[in-house]
Amino acid sequence: MKYDIRDMKLANQGRDKVEWAEEAMPVLRLIRERFAREKPLKGVTIAACLHVTTETANLMRTLQAGGARLALCASNPLSTQDDTAAALVKHYKVPTFAIRGEDRKTYYQHVHACLDAKPHLSMDDGCDVVSTIHSERKDLLPHMLGGSEETTTGVIRLRAMEAEGVLAYPIIAVNDADTKHLFDNRYGTGQSTIDGIVRATNRLLAGSVFVVAGYGWCARGVATRARGMGAHVIITEVDPLRALEAVMDGYQVMPMADAAPAGDIFVSVTGNRTVITAEHFEKMKDGACVCNSGHFDIEVDIPALKKLAKSVKRVREHVQQFTLTDGRRINLLAEGRLVNLAAAEGHPACVMDMSFANQALAAEHIVKNQGKLEKRVYGVPKEIDREIARLKLLSMGVAIDTLTPDQRKYLSSWQMGT
Ligand code: ADE
Repeated sequence: MKYDIRDMKLANQGRDKVEWAEEAMPVLRLIRERFAREKPLKGVTIAACLHVTTETANLMRTLQAGGARLALCASNPLSTQDDTAAALVKHYKVPTFAIRGEDRKTYYQHVHACLDAKPHLSMDDGCDVVSTIHSERKDLLPHMLGGSEETTTGVIRLRAMEAEGVLAYPIIAVNDADTKHLFDNRYGTGQSTIDGIVRATNRLLAGSVFVVAGYGWCARGVATRARGMGAHVIITEVDPLRALEAVMDGYQVMPMADAAPAGDIFVSVTGNRTVITAEHFEKMKDGACVCNSGHFDIEVDIPALKKLAKSVKRVREHVQQFTLTDGRRINLLAEGRLVNLAAAEGHPACVMDMSFANQALAAEHIVKNQGKLEKRVYGVPKEIDREIARLKLLSMGVAIDTLTPDQRKYLSSWQMGT
């Protein structure tokens, strides 16, 4: 079996953590048990490019139980948990190509190593496998049954491919499932981003001015949790509807140029590039902390920060301190990469349970419907989404009411009024 990981000696520690995460992933466990009986992915090879975490390891175990052959690489150079990668190779026999801190060249070598498995399905978090197949590995296209995409940024790239007419196989946008973005993006990114900032800086959030760029599902999760910890939260937005929601949710809303001199901590969660730029660094307070929780490290203009600085020093494991020519210090967390995965451990298993249940069932859906799907970006079928919500509630011991026949009739009629 081929693989490339940091250190096999970390495998037992990794396995303990994978099993710990599994305890909080009951829905995925149920799917794994069924997959083990029914083998819906028998004969199918999957190239997965995901954050190599304990939660991803449990997804790999589920796909493997379903009969799939796997190859896994990292979807971000700084998010890999090296102990998990070792456990994946040693204990779960998953060919894994991921080393925390790998450079760009190694990152893409690992994507190609995964693709050498000649996949039938791609499973992406950020669309790097799909874009590599469509640009450099077109030879693989005839094998492809379909793929799935985990994150907002990846879905945006895929919809652009679909609009340009270049998407060559069907994709399921797992991100768009309600049981994914309403939970993972909101509660997962919310908690894990705060976790990453606190682990990186050990700063007190209470009483701080906390600037969140963006007010999509991820950003509003971050804003809610920061407010819950006593921060004064400012939102910056470009979308009038979202900005209005933020205003009515009780936040102060203003352009980044106005927020820059006020903020103690800045988090960009927009999915867009150059959101925090030289213009803003020039106005920030001495000691401001700046980070990103969007998929790519392009939201904070790091080249501009480097240009403005007369020196750079690593002052804590995840903090680079840039001293500007006037003596002000700006602290960049996690090199501007996803702070929640680079400085903490990403979303807790409890929410990844639903995201990865969607991934597993999306893979099964593509295999079951091979030949019937078009070269389009599809949502997760509603029945799958609702079933995941049902199973999650069941696992939490939460019962709900059911519609009476009379209520069902009322909902499908139009005659009954005042
Ligand atoms: N994305 C965000 N958090 C994650 C996690 N814990 N595992 C895999 N992907 C993630």
